[in-house]
Amino acid sequence: MSNEQSADREVLFQPLQIRAMHLRNRIVMSPMTRGFCPGGVPTDAVATYYRRRAEGGAGLIVTEGVAVDHPAALGDAGLGENNIPTLNDPAAIEGWRKVVEAVHAHGGKIVPQLWHQGVMRKPGTGPNPDVPSVSPSGIWGPLGRMTSIAPGSIPADPEIGAPMSESDIEDAIAAFVRSAINAVEAGFDGIALHGGHGYLIDNFLWEGTNLRDDRWGGSRAKRSEFPAEIVRRIRAAIGEDFPIFFRFSQWKQQDFRATLADTPEELGEVLRPLAQAGVDVFDASVRYYNRAGFEGDPACLAGVARRVTGKLSMAVGGVGINQGMYDRDKAAAVVSDFTPLIDRFAAGEFDLVAVGRAMIGDPQWAHKFRAGEVIEPYRIENDGILS
Ligand SMILES: Cc1cc2nc3c(=O)[nH]c(=O)nc-3n(C[C@H](O)[C@H](O)[C@H](O)COP(=O)(O)O)c2cc1C
Repeated sequence: MSNEQSADREVLFQPLQIRAMHLRNRIVMSPMTRGFCPGGVPTDAVATYYRRRAEGGAGLIVTEGVAVDHPAALGDAGLGENNIPTLNDPAAIEGWRKVVEAVHAHGGKIVPQLWHQGVMRKPGTGPNPDVPSVSPSGIWGPLGRMTSIAPGSIPADPEIGAPMSESDIEDAIAAFVRSAINAVEAGFDGIALHGGHGYLIDNFLWEGTNLRDDRWGGSRAKRSEFPAEIVRRIRAAIGEDFPIFFRFSQWKQQDFRATLADTPEELGEVLRPLAQAGVDVFDASVRYYNRAGFEGDPACLAGVARRVTGKLSMAVGGVGINQGMYDRDKAAAVVSDFTPLIDRFAAGEFDLVAVGRAMIGDPQWAHKFRAGEVIEPYRIENDGILS
């Protein structure tokens, strides 16, 4: 690595203050589900797993998806019964407290990714197998689209239940709020909301799963009302100090080519209600961070999110790794030319950089990136499994 490159990398080691959260640098561990929390409770091994990434220099860790306190939040997600963490009871809160303390002891910050699976919940699985799954319009989404879901897990009929009633919607919002309060009790530094990938929040955002014409649907801004209400209520419950991160994606598991917005203006219609509600950072989930978000506009999706909301944004997807998340069957090799990433960051396109699989592959990723040292590769067989 030349001296220039080494100096350039330093731009990612500027601190950042977001409300009361002080980040030592701009490198974030992206949320990655693992399935190592028996009964929903993080163990000491989970604390060690995250501690190692903080020790390795990550400024912020966004945890794996954590189920909110709602009976239909969770199915097994193919990871065996009841191994996905919750924040719903004293044992889970206590388990997370140990994780948080381990990360803080190494100078890192950590936020839980609050998750409700919505129509993606596999019926008959999870902690409450008998409860029906919930979704805004009772539909799974259009069938026959490009997806990576195993055919056996795609329903034969897109109608999977009844549309959520007002009280169902209130229950789901209240579940997010309770879990956010528990997160603060566990000592977390803020909250992240999973608003992408075809799960409950995204089921409201996407016209493919939200056919409502009441307060909760009918236009882009109205489809944003469910997450906006969650954000407002969380903000009211936890106060002004804690940052709220919001992950969104154009793509859905039901439809890789789906979009919430086809132009930057339309993206503004989706995200501005969330910004106004109190989101601090938009996390734009794409497979390759450096692809243009929209035709005719060179900015990546995180860059456009930043521009149309005036909020901070986080880029993710293919940082330090040559294959996107759904190209995982192909050999994933380390990418060590970070010039395009650094150039975009230095130009102010986004504020934070999330690293997913590469940080599973090498817990020391942030330190090694800074020093220009050789980074260990990610191996698919290690997905979430390793320490
Ligand atoms: C094993 C695995 C589990 C994941 N689990 C989640 C999750 O719980 N929540 C989420 O928002 N994204 C999840 N993702 C997506 C990652 O956060 C990230 O956006 C994606 O892997 C692209 O980043 P990368 O190319 O650096 O790996 C997961 C990805 C992988 C590989």
